[in-house]
Amino acid sequence: MKTITITNTDITTSQIVLGIMRIAALSPREAGQTLATAYDHGMTFIDSADIYGKGDSETIFGNALKHSNISRDSLFIQSKAGIINNNVATDGFPLGHRYDFSKEHLINSVEHILKRLQIDYLDSFLLHRPDPLMVLDEVAETFNILHSSGKVRYFGVSNFNPQQVEMLQSAVSQKLVFNQVQFSLAHSGMIDFGLHTNMEDKFSVNRDGGIIEYSRQHHITLQAWSPFQHGQIAGTFIDDPNYPVLNQKLEELGEKYGVLKNAIATAWILKHPAQIQVVLGTMTPKHIIDSVKGADVSLTNQEWYDLYFAAGHDLP
Ligand SMILES: NC(=O)c1ccc[n+]([C@@H]2O[C@H](COP(=O)([O-])OP(=O)(O)OC[C@H]3O[C@@H](n4cnc5c(N)ncnc54)[C@H](OP(=O)(O)O)[C@@H]3O)[C@@H](O)[C@H]2O)c1
Repeated sequence: MKTITITNTDITTSQIVLGIMRIAALSPREAGQTLATAYDHGMTFIDSADIYGKGDSETIFGNALKHSNISRDSLFIQSKAGIINNNVATDGFPLGHRYDFSKEHLINSVEHILKRLQIDYLDSFLLHRPDPLMVLDEVAETFNILHSSGKVRYFGVSNFNPQQVEMLQSAVSQKLVFNQVQFSLAHSGMIDFGLHTNMEDKFSVNRDGGIIEYSRQHHITLQAWSPFQHGQIAGTFIDDPNYPVLNQKLEELGEKYGVLKNAIATAWILKHPAQIQVVLGTMTPKHIIDSVKGADVSLTNQEWYDLYFAAGHDLP
């Protein structure tokens, strides 16, 4: 497993992350097997969010961790909050449909996250999606409370553009170390527009404000969510007949390197010099084992471009 040292922290961790959004669908026994498989294959970084499975993902993961041989401190556990989407208010989740970065909501969210995960602290806490109504001083105060109480070690954001990161960073005392964004061979807008600067075609549209360039300059580690999905988690492109050329190229390179398509799709993200973390969402042990083999594949620059072309892109 490739490890990376997260800039501005004392963290060395796996570059491939286990995302637990889909773990709520598993039985306790299956969840235990998924966690053990990921850990045994070097995945020590866990990504969660309060809303996954309406809290059930964290409850199931917390139970699996408790009943495993894995010590809490050998993992880097991250969660996210700030999204409210509930028809019914419960103890952990208020009623409503909005983003909410209020002190009351974020502190309440972290307390419930810790309870569900059955742990005392989060290694990192991300604001899930930017709330236009965020009050910067209030977020700063909230981060200070969470940090000084020992409940959160590091902070970051998700789905923020560079100006939003910059604005928040200007207010909070802690360095924002992560930004989690969607990125895959079939969702590569962060790269497309840079290659099509000042052109008139659809790939020239800058939809994220230059997040890769900004993150590299400011030493923020990007985390690629949904690395095998197209659309907004519309489905995986792997073995999808709508992506025949891409699947043929993934297969061809898989044969060359002795791995499966999911490993090549993983290696394509890992090849980027921004040292992007890959947040895998598969809960199937075999798919985990096959995907992490991507960490041992070093694609050539030409192969990286060939995969990009096979996903439907070109160069001006
Ligand atoms: N920050 C955000 O806004 C945000 C949004 C969405 C997700 N996330 C994070 O990103 C993580 C990953 O998201 P994701 O689950 O959409 O990512 P993904 O890894 O792109 O997709 C996983 C899905 O693909 C399926 N799949 C089918 N064939 C596969 C193959 N050959 N190899 C591997 N998987 C295959 C998996 O099914 P099987 O389980 O059957 O393998 C699973 O349903 C989430 O768990 C969450 O932590 C963050």
